[in-house]
Amino acid sequence: MKIIHLSDTHVDPEILYKIDSQQRFRQALDHIKDNHTDADHFMITGDLTHFGNDESYQIFINILSDAGLPDHLYPKLILGNHDDRENFKKNFPNTKTDENGFVQYTEKDNDKVFIFLDTNLANTDAGHLCDKRQQWLRETLDKEQKNKIYIFMHHNPLAIGHINSDNIGLVQREDLKKILLQYQNSIQHIFFGHQHVTSSGKYLDITFSSPRSTWSPLVPNFLNRYRLGTANTDPNYNIVLLEEDSLIVHSEDFLKTDVNWFTDN
Ligand SMILES: [Fe+2]
Ligand SMILES: [Fe+2]
Repeated sequence: MKIIHLSDTHVDPEILYKIDSQQRFRQALDHIKDNHTDADHFMITGDLTHFGNDESYQIFINILSDAGLPDHLYPKLILGNHDDRENFKKNFPNTKTDENGFVQYTEKDNDKVFIFLDTNLANTDAGHLCDKRQQWLRETLDKEQKNKIYIFMHHNPLAIGHINSDNIGLVQREDLKKILLQYQNSIQHIFFGHQHVTSSGKYLDITFSSPRSTWSPLVPNFLNRYRLGTANTDPNYNIVLLEEDSLIVHSEDFLKTDVNWFTDN
């Protein structure tokens, strides 16, 4: 199985911080169309837009339809801190929600279950998984624990550097940790975005990975205080190859040029 994991498109009508998020999203989708239409699933883990307004969601939708990807690669979407839940639901009426109206849902593919979480809270960049959302997650994990479970969320579930530098990560990380500990035998991997940093590793007994943003890649912060930094470096998305006995995550730097395959067979 092949999964495309892309994040943080930050689509907006304007050019933000001198980077054209619309153009970058188009370039990423063109790259996917040229290289990965054999993928089985396409997930975008939030910050779909920069300001969460209708105009931005409509631009996002138009860019996706212009890309002409095969129908089965219409992406599964979740919210980031830059998104707006009500505007999202208005513009994507077919996306499932949980009983409390959060954009949380599952998708199944044979013995694999993909769980999509909603960590958005209005007016903050930090991630939130309130009691209701935690309850939904617990019930879902309980129901699906015989399957192989893959979690998709916007915010990083753990600090990916020093804990004191993680001002905008998930606030209820200790609560989530308890849930993950209980079901870590079933949970195969956690996919997230938000920090705009390529990361991979293991949390408890669960591996994780994140791609950079397609819009604005940031540089990792190794200090014990909060800081963000930009750099003249590549945006990317990830390609995940799932086999019975392995899970491999590749970074696709989609702005790469002058690709020369040694052979074309
Ligand atoms: Fe973002
Ligand atoms: Fe974010």
